[in-house]
Amino acid sequence: MKVLVTGGLGYIGSHTVVELLNEGYEVVVVDNLSNSSIDVYDKIKIITGKDFPFYEEDVCIEKKLDEIFSKEKPDAVIHFAAYKAVGESVEKPIMYYENNLVSTMKLCKVMKKHNCNVFVFSSSATVYGDPEVLPIKESARLSTTNPYGSTKLMNEQILKDVCISNKDFSAMILRYFNPIGAHKSGLIGENPNGIPNNLMPYIVRVATRELEILSIFGDDYDTPDGTGVRDYIHVVDLAKGHIKALEKAFQEAGVKYYNLGTGTGYSVLEMVKSFEKVNNVKVPYKIVGRRAGDIAACYADPTKAYNELGWKAEFGLEDMMRDSYNFVLKLNDEKRSNE
Ligand code: NAD
Ligand code: WQD
Repeated sequence: MKVLVTGGLGYIGSHTVVELLNEGYEVVVVDNLSNSSIDVYDKIKIITGKDFPFYEEDVCIEKKLDEIFSKEKPDAVIHFAAYKAVGESVEKPIMYYENNLVSTMKLCKVMKKHNCNVFVFSSSATVYGDPEVLPIKESARLSTTNPYGSTKLMNEQILKDVCISNKDFSAMILRYFNPIGAHKSGLIGENPNGIPNNLMPYIVRVATRELEILSIFGDDYDTPDGTGVRDYIHVVDLAKGHIKALEKAFQEAGVKYYNLGTGTGYSVLEMVKSFEKVNNVKVPYKIVGRRAGDIAACYADPTKAYNELGWKAEFGLEDMMRDSYNFVLKLNDEKRSNE
């Protein structure tokens, strides 16, 4: 079984490629390196001991996709390639709509031509907007508050319509909650350019003293300690969810929606305390005002994925803390030895 993975050198894609190779799938990666590095290709090969083809191409370019499909003849596509920064999407909406929508449409077009009918899509808990009921079920009301989130919702609609038009097509819409952590080897992980927007990469950079202090965005939310609550999930658990989704997609056509989360929410303060305890390091912080667009709490009801895919998250918070830190320590060691 051959799987074409777009964005396969990115954070979640690279971990999924490792799991696919470990499970015996053939893998083809297409990534334009707009938010990743070619080093990740070598690191995946070191971790798995396996080789696989990589194409440095933009998945919005139909002609290139067509050539890759003609040569590789994949049985399925897992589509990670997208821009993902919420704030940037507000500043550059057209860039986000273009990349995140055109990529999916071109893929669907080329898949039809090559009779490839299995599509696994990276959606996000962001499609639930500010949830009315917690934990969040897949049937919850959908809404978005920024262009990035809108691209996810629009992609979901596109894939639903493709399934209506083609009864053989299978689209698995996976709604990720907050992925953190890294592969236990420390060779691959999340390595954002510049100052991180997300909590975990920020905490790690404060712990390594690359950044001075963590700003906690608000302590007056309606949550147990007043700080924002999220469902953090280990990226390796998330990667494994894609394998389960693929298996299901090969069995049944149609569109299906699954939350990939743990079902447990942790506050920002709990995250800081846990990181300090597990890694025996201080993370100085200060409380500042709320960040525009943030919500109080968001965590999944993951029972549908368990019942229908046989998937549930196995890693705990301590694993996520340890692995996130280990990756950046190792990365910094590598940078120093290359200087
Ligand atoms: P990432 O930026 O690390 O990975 C995306 C990869 O896609 C990068 O390697 C980038 O170079 C590549 N890419 C982008 N546009 C491309 C294009 N047009 N052609 C070829 N390659 C392209 O992001 P990630 O965190 O691994 O996220 C993967 C997917 O999961 C994205 O669709 C994202 O929206 C979604 N998602 C991420 C999170 C999160 O918090 N990380 C949460 C929910 C959903
Ligand atoms: C988590 C909590 C912050 C940074 C975002 C996207 C979402 C999805 C995942 C792709 C919140 C607080 C954060 C900091 C802080 N991405 N925080 N200080 O906002 O839940 O989700 O990433 O689909 O679409 O919106 O994640 O990690 O940014 O924030 O206090 O420096 O940490 O307020 O409560 P978020 P996050």
